[in-house]
Amino acid sequence: MIRIFSDYESLSLAAADLIAEQLRKSARDRGQVSLALSGGHTPRRAYELLSRDSYKIPWPKVDLFWSDERCVPPDDPRSNERMVRETLIDLIPIPEKRVHLLRCAGSPRHSAEEYDIFLKRYFSENGNSFDIILLGLGEDGHTASLFPASAALSEAIRWAMEVQRPQEDFYRITMTFPIINRASLIIFLASGSQKARALAQVMDRSADIPARLVQPINGQLLWLVDQEAAAELHVNAPKIE
Ligand code: 6PG
Repeated sequence: MIRIFSDYESLSLAAADLIAEQLRKSARDRGQVSLALSGGHTPRRAYELLSRDSYKIPWPKVDLFWSDERCVPPDDPRSNERMVRETLIDLIPIPEKRVHLLRCAGSPRHSAEEYDIFLKRYFSENGNSFDIILLGLGEDGHTASLFPASAALSEAIRWAMEVQRPQEDFYRITMTFPIINRASLIIFLASGSQKARALAQVMDRSADIPARLVQPINGQLLWLVDQEAAAELHVNAPKIE
C-alpha cells in the first residue's frame, strides 16, 4: 500500500502518527515492542515529531534498533546512531538498556556476526521479529545498506552483514532480508524528486532494485511518500492526502 502526501512535513507527521499508534498498540498487547530505525536524512523530521510527549509512547517498553549503521565513530556526522540520538533518543525517556547499539568495534565482519547473534537471541526470547521496521529508499533503489549487486542481497542465513560501497572508505553493517521480511510492519519513507525513479521502479516492477526485495512474509508493507517522490508513478496512484 502507498500513501502520497503533499510535502515532507505532512509525510513526516503521518509517519510519526502511524509509528506512535503502532508502538502504543504493540506495547499494550504484548507488554513490549521492537522498533528498527533507518538512517539517512528522510526520517529525521519523523523522529523529531515522535519525541513529542503528546504521543504518549511508552518508551520504557520499546526496544530500539538500527536497520543499518556506518562503521564510523558514534559522534561522526555520518553516524546513524548520532542522528537518532540527536532527533529522538536524547529527547525521550527510553532506558539506555533498551537502546541496542550497532557499533563496529574492531572488525566489520566480527561486528556483523555479533549483531546477527544478538538479533537471533533477542527474537528467540521476544517474538519472531520486529514489530516495526522503518526503511528509506536510495536513489539507486537500495534500502538499509543493501545495495545493488551486493552479495548481501542473496544472504539467506545471516541476519546482519558487513558491506562496503566502492565509493566509501568505511564499512557498513546492515540487516538482511531474512530478518527484515519477518517484520509485522515495514514502513518505507521516501521524499523528494531524486527518489521518483527508484520509487516508480519499485511500484511498476521495472527494475530489480534492492527495495523490491522487501516483501514481508506475514507482515504489512506501507510506503509513505511525498508528491515529489511520487512524480513518476503512473496509473492508479492514490490521491494526495
Ligand atoms: C543509511 C540508510 C539508507 C537510507 C537511504 C535514503 O544508513 O544510509 O539506512 O538506507 O535510508 O540511503 O537516505 P536519505 O533519507 O538520506 O535519502
